[in-house]
Amino acid sequence: MRGQQLLPTLTAEEIAEIEEEINHLPDRKSAAIDALMIVQKHRGWVSDESLGAISRLLAMSVEELDGVATFYNLVFRQPVGRHVVMVCDSVSCYVMGADDLAKEVQSQLGVRFGETTPDKRFTLLPIVCLGACDKAPAMMIDEDLIENVSSDRLQSIFGAYA
Ligand code: FES
Repeated sequence: MRGQQLLPTLTAEEIAEIEEEINHLPDRKSAAIDALMIVQKHRGWVSDESLGAISRLLAMSVEELDGVATFYNLVFRQPVGRHVVMVCDSVSCYVMGADDLAKEVQSQLGVRFGETTPDKRFTLLPIVCLGACDKAPAMMIDEDLIENVSSDRLQSIFGAYA
């Protein structure tokens, strides 16, 4: 009990939002992804401490919840910048030049995949198929899907995210 009190807990607002999701679902565990995304919305990412608090709320083990978080690659388990740039590296985008695009993105942002710019403006991550294969290559910045990306558009695309 004492150990638990030392762990950071979820805010009342986060708990209320998670409970609201649970109300629409057959059991507490089914709210795992929603709960992770709710906490991420409030904190920017999901720390080990947050993961522990969510797992207790959902009555599931930390390992089980971590498995869900790892599988669902929109859950960030490390701190990220103000904007997260995710470049699709799946087959249709690869065929349409995602490899060169990825090099240009890294060059323009000055970071490699998995890194955050020193000003904390962007974190760059790879991502699997975004479901926009007919408009490849595709990338996502925060919640925005960007299709038919070409290197010459990158500067104006990044410019829209302060
Ligand atoms: S392969 Fe990139 S969007 Fe489907």
